[in-house]
Amino acid sequence: MKILVTGGTGYIGSHTTVELMQKGHEVVIVDALFNSRAEALDAIETITGKRPEFEQFDLTDNTKVDDFFSRHTDIKGVIHFAAHKAVGESVNEPLKYYRNNLVSLINILESMKKYKVGNIVFSSSCTVYGEPDADNLPISEKAPIKKAECPYGNTKQIAEEVLEDSVNAYKTLNVIALRYFNPVGAHESAQLGELPFGVPNNLMPYITQTGYGIRQCLKVFGNDYDTPDGTPIRDYIHVMDLAKAHVAAVERMANGKMKKQFEVFNVGTGKGYSVLEAIHSFEKASGKPLNYEIVGRRAGDIVKIWADPSFTNNELGWKAERSIDEMTKSAWEWEKAYRQGKTKFKVEE
Ligand code: UD1
Repeated sequence: MKILVTGGTGYIGSHTTVELMQKGHEVVIVDALFNSRAEALDAIETITGKRPEFEQFDLTDNTKVDDFFSRHTDIKGVIHFAAHKAVGESVNEPLKYYRNNLVSLINILESMKKYKVGNIVFSSSCTVYGEPDADNLPISEKAPIKKAECPYGNTKQIAEEVLEDSVNAYKTLNVIALRYFNPVGAHESAQLGELPFGVPNNLMPYITQTGYGIRQCLKVFGNDYDTPDGTPIRDYIHVMDLAKAHVAAVERMANGKMKKQFEVFNVGTGKGYSVLEAIHSFEKASGKPLNYEIVGRRAGDIVKIWADPSFTNNELGWKAERSIDEMTKSAWEWEKAYRQGKTKFKVEE
């Protein structure tokens, strides 16, 4: 199948592209390279032996989106990753987030309708659940959606509503929204991994950069939460397991296996780990202690959330396979390979 992967040079998009290509699918990537690097294409080629097709443009430009779909009439499905995702930045620049994340989705849906492309997988997030009530843990897809804590989270909620309203109106459209928990780790080749620009916002790249000495000290945002060791709990999921969930989703759509036109799946392992447990797993992987200090809480952080993945396991036929130790190990191998210039990516000073 020929699949459009938007944001395919980004972290999750590039790993998913590898998995799609290794399953025999053809991928065309559209990416504006706002928050990713073109070298991801070289890395994908190194791993798969094939280079995905690539077009660089901004999906908020409807003329370009229309032109793209008019030329690629053989696309059987879309996986839409391209979006901004920094929580703090979204608070300071909400319009940048609403424009980019929503206008791009609307443009894609309009073209899908016009050019009769039926299937789209959307990158949603467990952020839509907000802070779950204690009796809702592990959290299932049936849990209530809470008011978003930040504009970024709100774009995911609104996008799900846009998609649901669209399937109700347009009978040719099928949607699977995947609600990711916390994707971490890297491809086992260490040729691809998470590569944030500048100072990382997220935990795992901050850990690996601190381990390598790029950052002096990891700040742990609070150890006075109501959890066993006082630090927040997340459901970390290996990015290659997440990539496989996307392949399962596009194949489910293409094979006519959907039960409804709009389906939502949690993509997590079902296990929660605290920040300190994630650090200790990394210390095992790297074989040395990590320099960290406990600081104050970060505004807007969820205390504890982990998935009930049973619906996804049973219905999508997908299950996360890799452990937290495999996640931290692969993230560490990637960080080292990248810093030592053993990948296709130019090393950032
Ligand atoms: C955050 C967003 C989520 C978004 C995801 C991807 C919130 C509440 N959620 O997830 O919506 O989809 O990023 O960008 O912001 N931590 C530290 N020190 C650090 C970094 C993180 O202690 O330097 C802790 C955090 O307090 C948190 C855990 O590590 O408890 C995970 O943080 P992070 O990787 O940023 O992910 P989320 O906050 O879960």
